[in-house]
Amino acid sequence: MLCTWARDHGFIGTGIDMSQLFTEQAKLRAEELGVADRVEFIHGDAVGYVSDEKVGVAACVGATWIGGGVAGTIELLARSLCTGGIILIGEPYWRQLPPTEDVAKGCLANSISDFLMLPELLASFGHLGYDVVEMVLADQDGWDRYEAAKWLTMRRWLEANPDDELAKDVRAQLTSEPERHAAYTREYLGWGVFALMPR
Ligand SMILES: C[S@@+](CC[C@H](N)C(=O)[O-])C[C@H]1O[C@@H](n2cnc3c(N)ncnc32)[C@H](O)[C@@H]1O
Repeated sequence: MLCTWARDHGFIGTGIDMSQLFTEQAKLRAEELGVADRVEFIHGDAVGYVSDEKVGVAACVGATWIGGGVAGTIELLARSLCTGGIILIGEPYWRQLPPTEDVAKGCLANSISDFLMLPELLASFGHLGYDVVEMVLADQDGWDRYEAAKWLTMRRWLEANPDDELAKDVRAQLTSEPERHAAYTREYLGWGVFALMPR
């Protein structure tokens, strides 16, 4: 995302991810898009990370555990934000409230209390002192593209690595995941990116 922002909008910026693989791929992507002089990728833990210079956009897209939840992550990102800047938070919410804790677990949540319904999530940003100024929500088709890409990846990996010690686990996952996704995540879990400005 940072690479395409650099290409399309002239952004400069820093991305942090604790996955060595993702950080390496981000660097390759920056080269591919001709923006390597404008973006920097740090392989490291984003917990407690505050930028040296204040930024116009501070984003955590899908890892709010870095601040112990949404509130703590907003507080962390706000420490890097310049006046008039925008915070982006990627976070799940319930499309429908799971009727039982087992359904929440089927969505790979620990509990129903892990997430809010969308109106409550939006209200929670207000309670933290932020205006929601934009949001982009995943629809079910988007979920399918995200999940099904993993199935094809697992299938190809299994063909290439039949004797790997993880092959049995990956085989089991590939067998069960489409049904789990259709029964649980696809129906109950939503996901969005929310743009916030301090009041
Ligand atoms: C749901 S993914 C979101 C991926 C990314 N935002 C994207 O759009 O491709 C969560 C990402 O957070 C990274 N991550 C998890 N915990 C982290 C931490 N403590 N510090 C930095 N990155 C972390 C994972 O490696 C993973 O790439």
